Amino acid sequence: MTDIQSYLASVKSRVDLYIEEFYSSKKKNIPEQLYEAINYAIFPGGKMLRPAIAFGICDELGSTTDTVLPIASAIELVHTFSLIHDDLPCIDNDDYRRGRETVHKKFSEAIALLAGDALLIDAFGMVASAQQLTESKRVQILELFSSCAGSYGMVGGQILDIDYSSGQREIDPHLLITLKTSNMFILSSMCGAICSDKEFVKEDIIKFGEDFGTLFQLTDDILDFQQDRRGSFNIVTLKGHNEVFSEIDRRYENIRLFTKKYSFNLNIISGLTELVVNRVENIRQMGGLLQ
Ligand code: IPE
Ligand code: IPE
Ligand code: MG
Repeated sequence: MTDIQSYLASVKSRVDLYIEEFYSSKKKNIPEQLYEAINYAIFPGGKMLRPAIAFGICDELGSTTDTVLPIASAIELVHTFSLIHDDLPCIDNDDYRRGRETVHKKFSEAIALLAGDALLIDAFGMVASAQQLTESKRVQILELFSSCAGSYGMVGGQILDIDYSSGQREIDPHLLITLKTSNMFILSSMCGAICSDKEFVKEDIIKFGEDFGTLFQLTDDILDFQQDRRGSFNIVTLKGHNEVFSEIDRRYENIRLFTKKYSFNLNIISGLTELVVNRVENIRQMGGLLQ
């Protein structure tokens, strides 16, 4: 049995070190302000759920995780880019992220925009130069980065979020969540599976990423709603707590069946799922009061 908190901590220290070495090796060619902004955005960082899913799938399938390290690190760069841009005044206009000032508040809008650009582009370079993987795997992974994060992936989802918030058109909330959030977890799961070199059914891994990402976003929306945060799209406002908790239970059960089918027994995937669901357990207990 894996203690999930120490697992997350070890993923975080490996990913942090990989990213730190990647940038420090190029430091002399990076303008100082950009280097500072990138470091500010990346460290101390967030929960590392996406890299942990990539590592977790690889570990649970029974492989070493050396090959997944550069890829999980690149996923964290893309995720960080998405947060920097999401916080900009032209999108969510948030002043705080991860308990401190957002990048545009701390530096400037121009620096935040460009630091985000740099992280996204550097992520592709990080994957392309991952010598631990064969060329054909690197190409396969790069294609996934593009499809999961690009115009028909996470960025596309951000557009739907803007449309929703401005009330311009009706949006299917599940489509929005799949595009904006689940895609990055599908990317993590698929990369973990590809890096493992083990047998897997692609559709199962994609379905798991979709379930986990949705579960995560639903808990995030419950927490945001609870804190009464003005926000972009929130499914709790639309559907109410009961329906959202039922959806969480449904996704939780899908994940349980998936881990059973693949005989995952390291408690990494189930541990991460528990961790996410437990974020809102006390709110579930008080559910009646919040309706
Ligand atoms: C925040 O994701 C963006 C959403 C999809 C809700 P996380 O909550 O995983 O962000 P960090 O990396 O832990 O800060
Ligand atoms: C951010 O979603 C999602 C992405 C950056 C793709 P939200 O706007 O709901 O998340 P927070 O509340 O800013 O973390
Ligand atoms: Mg936001």
